[in-house]
Amino acid sequence: MKFSIIGTNWITEMFIKAAKETQLAKLNGVYSRTETKAKEFAEKHEAEHWYTQIDELLSDESDFVYIASPNSLHYEQVLACVNYGKHVFCEKPMGYTEQQIVEIDDAASKHGVYVFEGYRHLFSPNYVQLKKNLTTVGKIRGVLLQYIQYSSRYDAYQKGQIANVFSKEFAGGVLMDLGVYPLSMAIDLFGEPEAIDYHPVKLSNGIDGSGTLVLNYSEHQVTIIVSKIADATLPSEIHGEEGTLTINHIAPISKLTFTDRETKEVKELAGEQLELDMIYELDKFKQMIDQEDKQSYEKWMERSRRVAKWSEIARHKAGIYFPGE
Ligand SMILES: NC(=O)c1ccc[n+]([C@@H]2O[C@H](COP(=O)([O-])OP(=O)(O)OC[C@H]3O[C@@H](n4cnc5c(N)ncnc54)[C@H](OP(=O)(O)O)[C@@H]3O)[C@@H](O)[C@H]2O)c1
Repeated sequence: MKFSIIGTNWITEMFIKAAKETQLAKLNGVYSRTETKAKEFAEKHEAEHWYTQIDELLSDESDFVYIASPNSLHYEQVLACVNYGKHVFCEKPMGYTEQQIVEIDDAASKHGVYVFEGYRHLFSPNYVQLKKNLTTVGKIRGVLLQYIQYSSRYDAYQKGQIANVFSKEFAGGVLMDLGVYPLSMAIDLFGEPEAIDYHPVKLSNGIDGSGTLVLNYSEHQVTIIVSKIADATLPSEIHGEEGTLTINHIAPISKLTFTDRETKEVKELAGEQLELDMIYELDKFKQMIDQEDKQSYEKWMERSRRVAKWSEIARHKAGIYFPGE
């Protein structure tokens, strides 16, 4: 398969590397807002074409478009590609409202193409291992998931340079940037919660720099702590009546242990995993298209819809609104 890209930051370079190393897809075209960057990026990654207009990218011969632009642009860019008959691999979060995901899904069905939201952590082997071992903890009584990672862009923010990820205009903030990793994990593992609350630590421009999400399920709660303005050392945990699963980091998981409550025996469950974990999601994306696997498409799109729905509810409860809301 051939692909073109929107967004020329490091995550796109990781995606290109994953495609190249696995030979699952070949970079064909590069879109950038500026000619110099488009040309340079295309040359660096041996792409045949470069563009400064989205229309040029849409009319090339690529099978799919990889989108890694600022969050608020995803919805329109995905729709433009889908309406042109291109498959799409879009970075998380694909949309910031449930309605955006529903519209993308409708358009993809209408045009017979596949759309995929890049949740690399949910396709990696150690996450699959976590899911397989979930029942070992017995009745789940509590979950703590954390994604706390100081961002160098916060240094810039403090000097008055507001990066897209710290701006409402571009649907930034910690919930949309890091929070969607644990939120999607919770929804993938436990389904939709009965209720959600979000307690953000807001920066001077009203965006969330840190925050705590609480998801209520009938017999347990999930607490999610996220931050882009601090670092942490605590792991994540799923604890039940029979034992505890401890996760060193959720994206990617490199250590995963089960501690038996009674015997206190600790068992390591994580295996070797490729450092470039985008390879796993790219592999699934390609398989879905090659095998016309509508069942997986629907399952993953439903998960995307749920994540958008609950992040939207959480944001609005905390008074965080994005363009058009
Ligand atoms: N899966 C992961 O592990 C992972 C990791 C990092 C990021 N992401 C996701 O990837 C996406 C991009 O994140 P990022 O941090 O790279 O974002 P970013 O630096 O703000 O922007 C990404 C690209 O979008 C273009 N862009 C920048 N500002 C723009 C503007 N004002 N208007 C239009 N285009 C603009 C730029 O490309 P040009 O200058 O070439 O046009 C830039 O390279 C986000 O959705 C993020 O959540 C995912």
